[in-house]
Order: sequence, then structure tokens, then C-alpha cells
Amino acid sequence: MDAKITEAVVEALNSGWITTGPRTKLFEKKLTEFNGNKATLCVNSASGGLELMLKWFGIGAGDEVILPAYTYAATANVIIHTGATPVFVDSNSDFNISARHIEAAITKNTKAIMPVDLGGWPCDYDSINQIVNKEEIKRLFQPTNEQQQKLGRILVLSDAAHSLGAIYKGRPTGSLTDITVFSFHAVKNLTTAEGGAIALNLPEPFDNEEVYKYLNIKSLHGQSKDALAKTQIGNWRYDILEAGYKYNMTDIQAAMGLVELERYKDDMLVRRKQIFDRYSMIFGEDKRFLIPEYQNQESTSSYHVYLLRINEINEKQRDEIIRLIFEQQVTVNVHFIPLPMMTFYKSIGYKIENYPICYKNYSCEISLPVYYTLSNEQVDQVANAVIHAVDTILK
Ligand SMILES: Cc1ncc(COP(=O)(O)O)c(C=O)c1O
Repeated sequence: MDAKITEAVVEALNSGWITTGPRTKLFEKKLTEFNGNKATLCVNSASGGLELMLKWFGIGAGDEVILPAYTYAATANVIIHTGATPVFVDSNSDFNISARHIEAAITKNTKAIMPVDLGGWPCDYDSINQIVNKEEIKRLFQPTNEQQQKLGRILVLSDAAHSLGAIYKGRPTGSLTDITVFSFHAVKNLTTAEGGAIALNLPEPFDNEEVYKYLNIKSLHGQSKDALAKTQIGNWRYDILEAGYKYNMTDIQAAMGLVELERYKDDMLVRRKQIFDRYSMIFGEDKRFLIPEYQNQESTSSYHVYLLRINEINEKQRDEIIRLIFEQQVTVNVHFIPLPMMTFYKSIGYKIENYPICYKNYSCEISLPVYYTLSNEQVDQVANAVIHAVDTILK
């Protein structure tokens, strides 16, 4: 947050229009240009956006949705809200969902796959898109409504909460699957305090502009006209076309987003990469550490979370290392505790024993701070705190 953002927010506040309006529409347009997809709808969170799209695809009781066991609760909770069953699968050693496990988990009830770009690292989208397009898998798919019939296969709805600006095989994350949902929550790379965006990239015969128009209505209580349209002369009368939701973004949020998007690629992502590089320079030399993948010939991360692993330690040692890091006035985190370890998901029958790679990744992982204003000296301070803690525990 800086003076430019404050100015933009104050301008929006004084503009006479504070809810969804011209700034949100402009932010949507700029996001579409940035991601190279077909149309974008801004919403009030990624959670709302994911849930809206599951509902749009008609997912409900009796359906199954495949997702990684290694993600934040939002990815799975929205499936629960629809009445469908979340089908967790194990991950690869790069933290992302395993395509092999996805394929093995598909049944005649599978309606969607929700890959998650953990820490900003894009999933193996070629493999995922190939799986849903395989003839034998398409034959298994049982459409029960118009959208499902039109697509004729399992929907790929990616949870790109972490990965705005990440690249896979030369294309940005927003243009890699049918639908991509971004988060602009306070801790995300680009923030509007709370917020999100749905990037539409549906194949033919879908008209993405039409879907966008419909989602506008669905995300605003099914109201045939939004508040701005109703202010036009002779345009006050409206109808409720369906029992829709309330997921719209405000122009105050969009004002922040517009400033951040302008400087995102050439400034914010550049600084995040420098921080990743600096951590990697320090930890990459030391055999006790496993540094995260964030750049190779195919993919470039959005550098959202630095997922450091410490080789050959157990969960208890990791927790002890974290305690010692905190004692040195450095705050770290773990992304994520796998969902089958959470009370709710355990209570409905999921067991972490079925996700051995997730557990392995989780039990030795520590997320290091990455943010724009983190200085090189602070990066070194974090690294020293980690090394001191590891020296103490592994002595
Ligand atoms: C992987 C993942 N998916 C979804 C979300 C939900 O984002 P939001 O807070 O915008 O609803 C988050 C938030 O942290 C997340 O980490």
C-alpha cells in the first residue's frame, strides 16, 4: 500500500460511485488483456468465484470433484457447499496435484477437476487437459444439464489463487484451462484487500461473452440489471431471473487492483523473484535444504510463497524448528496442513495415510516471508534464523 493506492481509493470514494461500476469493468478488461483469456468477471473473493463456477456448471449432490489434498480449505469447502463430494488426490514432489492420481480417481460421477498452483507454481496443465479430452474419459462423462452437454467432458476449473502472472509453456495461468479463478486477498501478490476474478476461457461452442453476461446476473442475485444500468433514463425496472448470489466486487477494490496491475509484471513480480533468488542462493548451497522449483524451461512461478523443505526431518522436528525461528523474531508459516488432517475432513472419512507425498511435503516444509518491501537484509535475517534453528535441531 502506498500513496498511489491511497489516491486511487480516495478518487473512487469521491467519484459518486463506490460499488461495482466503471473501475471494476476497467479492471476486468485489463485482467483479460494481462491473462490473454476471453472474458473476466471480478468477484469479492476467489472462494466466491470458485463456488459460483461450480454452481454454474450445475455441480451438486451425487457429483464428484477432484482436487489436491494439499491446498487451502477454500478449494474443498466450496465443493462441500454444492453438495458434491471432494475427491482428494496426492501430489507430486513439486507440491502440485499429480496428473497420474487424477486419472486414477476419475469415475462416471466426476464433473470437475480443480488443480491448484501451489505457491504460484503452475500445474502440469498439458497432462490435465489431455486427460479430460481422452476419448474413454469423455465417454464416461454423464452430462445432466445444458452446460455439461455443451462441454461434453469434465470441466477444468483451476484454483489460481496464488498464481496470477505465472507462465506455463509461454502462456499465463489465466488462459490455460476452461476457467481460472484468482484471489486478491490481503496476502496475495496482487491485492484488493479482499477480492477475486474468474477468467473465462471456455472452448467452442461456448460464447464466453455470453457466459460473462450471465455470470454478471448470477453473481448479483439474478437481477436483470446492475445498479449502474438502473440509473440510466427509462431503465429503472428490473427483474429477478433466478435466485442468484452476491459476489460482486466494489469499485473501491477495483481502484486498488488497477494500480497494482499496472506495476505488477515489471515491478512487483521482479522484486518477488529477487527475493526467491536470494533465498535460493543461500539455501541451494546447503545439502540439508530442498529449495522450491520456480523456474524451468516450461514454467515460471508467480513467486507467491517460498516453500522451503528441510531434508530428512519429521513433522515434530519441523515444528520445533519453527518455534526456534519465531524466537528470533522471524515469522514463518506452513502452506498447507493437508486437508485430510483437518477435523472436519477427518470426520467425513478422509485419512492422511492415503496421501503419502502430501504428508511428506508438509512435514518438512516451512514457508518463508516474501513481500515487496522485504529488504535483502531482512531476507538474510530470515535465512540466518532458519539456519540457526536447523543447526540447533540437527546438531
Ligand atoms: C489455494 C487457495 N485457494 C483459494 C483461496 C481463497 O481465496 P479467497 O480468500 O480470495 O477466497 C486461497 C486463499 O488463501 C488459497 O490459498
